[in-house]
Amino acid sequence: MQPLVELRGIARRYGGVRALDGIDLDLRAGEIHALVGENGCGKSTLIKILTGAERPEAGGAVTIDGQDVTAAGPAERRRLGIQVIYQDLSLFPNLSVAENIAIGRHLGRIHRVDRRAMRQAAAAARDRLGIALDLDRDVGALAIAERQLVAICRALAEEARLVVMDEPTASLTRTEVDALLARMRELAVRGIAVLFVSHRLDEVLEVADRITVLRDGRRVATLPPDGLTEAELTRLMTGQAFRYDPPSAPAVEGPVVLEVEGLSRTGQYRDVSFRLHAGEVLGLTGLLGAGRTELALSLFGMNRPDAGTIRVCGHPFAPSDCRAAIAAGIAYVPEDRLSRGLALEQPVADNLLATILPRLAGRLGLVPPARRAAAARDGIERLSIKVARPEQAARTLSGGNQQRVVLAKWMATRPRVLILDSPTVGVDIGARDGIYAVVRDLARAGVAILMISDEIEEVRNHAARVLVMRAGRLAGEFASARSSVAEIRAAVDG
Ligand SMILES: Nc1ncnc2c1ncn2[C@@H]1O[C@H](COP(=O)(O)OP(=O)(O)OP(=O)(O)O)[C@@H](O)[C@H]1O
Ligand SMILES: [Mg+2]
Repeated sequence: MQPLVELRGIARRYGGVRALDGIDLDLRAGEIHALVGENGCGKSTLIKILTGAERPEAGGAVTIDGQDVTAAGPAERRRLGIQVIYQDLSLFPNLSVAENIAIGRHLGRIHRVDRRAMRQAAAAARDRLGIALDLDRDVGALAIAERQLVAICRALAEEARLVVMDEPTASLTRTEVDALLARMRELAVRGIAVLFVSHRLDEVLEVADRITVLRDGRRVATLPPDGLTEAELTRLMTGQAFRYDPPSAPAVEGPVVLEVEGLSRTGQYRDVSFRLHAGEVLGLTGLLGAGRTELALSLFGMNRPDAGTIRVCGHPFAPSDCRAAIAAGIAYVPEDRLSRGLALEQPVADNLLATILPRLAGRLGLVPPARRAAAARDGIERLSIKVARPEQAARTLSGGNQQRVVLAKWMATRPRVLILDSPTVGVDIGARDGIYAVVRDLARAGVAILMISDEIEEVRNHAARVLVMRAGRLAGEFASARSSVAEIRAAVDG
């Protein structure tokens, strides 16, 4: 049978960097195809070439139904049924669900929008996907997982034959991931091809019909998941046998650095109390919407609590903004790093050093070039950031490498308290270890670390104590060494 889409001899270079080097790939109607590989191996670049956002070098070809479309731009390829769901989802928050779903088909006639036809088209797409979705709500009021469904419905309304998703599950909780995987299967049953990128190998093995592994811009293998293990897949991705045994988290008990007492904010979290010691890694887990991020933002001066107290090293602390929090020695690495953490047009080196420039500066306030270069090199090495030159714009790094830059930047501030919100989302399995090692080093040096994560295994393996938040309240505290993942999960789910 002729594949729906064929990529032949796809190569792409950016300056001196070979992002893709002669890739062949075909996608079949009705299959779920996963694309995996380490950060920077070329997954997003390949997707851009598939959708027409980027051009391959001479010799590369893209065909749909056997027709050469290499020269066709994104609009033409969309018309031929290639629909991408970008990570930002490209939705209009101030429009309704129905309008968002149907807008593509009606965009040409926006002056005379036929509301009834739009609603019908939206309802049809929703029903094809078999989900409950209120068509009249504003998209701005929906959770990420629901917005994703809107984006998938929109792709259906535009008669998608291939739906492409770049890391669609990165910011979803386990339950939401399961729901999304079920929707992918729904699409496949209807004969639509799905291509998706993920660093979560368990879900890849669970849902994919075929898996393509990239390494350094080359295709290493395309294979079915049958009999394949995560370890084997990781070996294909990295070229090395990869053994992972989680180190036991150090249970250092230094003095109390952060003390939170009865902290509340209406509608977000209620009566939260805990203590964080110097040198301790404290885990905080819970479902999306449990109030973890809101609590973290309050500690960082960006979300004023209504009641309760915070103390830092024994002193009352009521930060009016993040500057006050930084001055008190608190650093916060947000979950949504790509939109908050980086100056995308600036060099990687400047991004890395933004938080520590005053410390590097000499007497006249100037940073000696040698010192600047050495500090940048240190950050790049410690988190193994894949970068051609430190002067490269941050925008040109792969997603996972951009995340590492943000992490490195805040870790370099040597804060008293470091709050990490989902530090390894979107980071490949090999690089996760580097992040955990830096966390351990910082703790050993006396930094108090609050590690927020959806992944119960992650907090249990890397924090000595784990707090569970549910519906805005602390719903349990566990000593990692004496608690199983199942026990903690029971508290998370309630
Ligand atoms: N506009 C650009 N300019 C320079 N280099 C680029 C550009 N876009 C991508 N690259 C480089 O191409 C390589 C592949 O990047 P790509 O974004 O495709 O990786 P990826 O597999 O999606 O990684 P991740 O899992 O981290 O998202 C990287 O080395 C990246 O720095
Ligand atoms: Mg990417």
